[in-house]
Amino acid sequence: MQINTVEGNIAERDDSAIVVNLFEGVTRPGGATGAVDGALDGAISDLIEQGDITGKKGNNVLIYSLGKLNSTRIIVAGLGKSDEFDLNAAREVNAGVARFIRSVGVNSYATVLHGAGIGGLDPSAAAQAAAEGLVMGLYSFDKYKADSGSKSIESVNIVEFDAEKIEAIRNGVKRGKDIGEAVNLARDMGNEPANIMTPTRMAEIALDVTRGTSMELTVLDRSEIEEMGMGSFAGVAQGTEEPPKFIVIKHEGDPDNPGNNLGLLGKGITFDSGGLDIKSAAGMLTMKSDMSGGACVIGTMKAIAAFNPKINVLAIVPATENMPGRRAQRPGDVVTAMNGKTIEIGNTDAEGRLVLADALCYAVEKGVTRIVDVATLTGAIGVALGDGATGVFGNDQDWVNEVVEAGNKVGERMWQLPTYASYKSEYSSDIADIRNTGGRGAGAITGALIIGEFAGDSQWAHLDIAATTRTTSDKGINPKGSTGVPVRTLVELATSLASE
Ligand code: BES
Ligand code: ZN
Ligand code: MN
Repeated sequence: MQINTVEGNIAERDDSAIVVNLFEGVTRPGGATGAVDGALDGAISDLIEQGDITGKKGNNVLIYSLGKLNSTRIIVAGLGKSDEFDLNAAREVNAGVARFIRSVGVNSYATVLHGAGIGGLDPSAAAQAAAEGLVMGLYSFDKYKADSGSKSIESVNIVEFDAEKIEAIRNGVKRGKDIGEAVNLARDMGNEPANIMTPTRMAEIALDVTRGTSMELTVLDRSEIEEMGMGSFAGVAQGTEEPPKFIVIKHEGDPDNPGNNLGLLGKGITFDSGGLDIKSAAGMLTMKSDMSGGACVIGTMKAIAAFNPKINVLAIVPATENMPGRRAQRPGDVVTAMNGKTIEIGNTDAEGRLVLADALCYAVEKGVTRIVDVATLTGAIGVALGDGATGVFGNDQDWVNEVVEAGNKVGERMWQLPTYASYKSEYSSDIADIRNTGGRGAGAITGALIIGEFAGDSQWAHLDIAATTRTTSDKGINPKGSTGVPVRTLVELATSLASE
């Protein structure tokens, strides 16, 4: 899809459709909407009076110009309440309008930049939000369908009257497009079935992302994983014939300042059957997405390649299936992580923490001092928070705050849960240093704390995305399926930490 920024008057355009907007409660439209209303002899005002056009968010009304304007179709997009309008709303409105126009069968349209007029948003930020909303909102995963059923939007022209805003808008669009595409890469990986999105395929995508950039890719195979002493990761991987991969992407954006670093770790379980502690049929159905944390980390690195921020980023994705093959690890086994800590396997289905344990050891050994791990770790996080927010945990409040703030800034909700030391007794083992499971309660917390056992002296935060990584219906900027949460937070975090 092309997103163009053009100077001009939207009322004069002759695109297949033009989009103007309206805040809820406004009865006399002004600005571009007022100009179009005038050309239509007050048709928009009439439809507001009759209650057809409400300005409510999601109220997108198509009217025909019947020769009174160059464009055949006019869409009046509802922006919602003006005092509630922000960049999140801008993203959602652009996504919703684009899907609406696609459903009408139109493949190209012109639009005003929602929020940049009386909405009062900064033009560059509004343009970034628009591009993110368009790229994310129009996403679909239909490569395996002979006929996808819906046409695609080929071009969107953002029409701005004020010449002085054009450059800011162009820059915002470029950034938003790069971010949206990074999110969509993560979604593609999460939506791809597990027979295709294997660890090997993930490593190939990491190669695609790094090719032609200054980023360095390292991929360790099964024997190298074992040689490195990653017994915790290797233990999970031994139940499958599918070759595991330990994927590492290094972005050296600030080589003179090794302290200016960020470790991004993502759980890469390409299919989670549960292992010998096998899941139910229903529990297994979406487990192709158990590599979404890793997908988000790789997607983030695509955006980092585009923006080249002045910060050292080490991305690590331990990728394997969790299968009950004939060599599968058993409940009660003891494995040894790369840092020498021993773990008794209380449940083979608690595998995410096992693969992340060695990823964390590796990051700490490489000198990374600020770490975020992203994982579809526990069903329990969905019991606690539903899909309303990603669960956040950590060992350092300042660092957790930075991550949560990055999330707030981009509209990916995060909610912190406690990591009191008193929970640690839940996962003590009779025969090893720790066990990989806690008791009946606080499953998301004990899962997080078990990962944290391997954080060494680093500042570490953990994002449990088990309940936010997929949506069962189109919701705002997220079409049904994989959401790509929290790629935008990670990109924001990396770029905001970067030195000028
Ligand atoms: N990948 C699952 C968690 C999950 C559940 C993600 C539902 C998305 C949707 C994880 O590996 C798992 O199986 N966790 C167990 C942990 C338990 C055995 C301690 C769980 O949540 O039941
Ligand atoms: Zn899992
Ligand atoms: Mn599991």
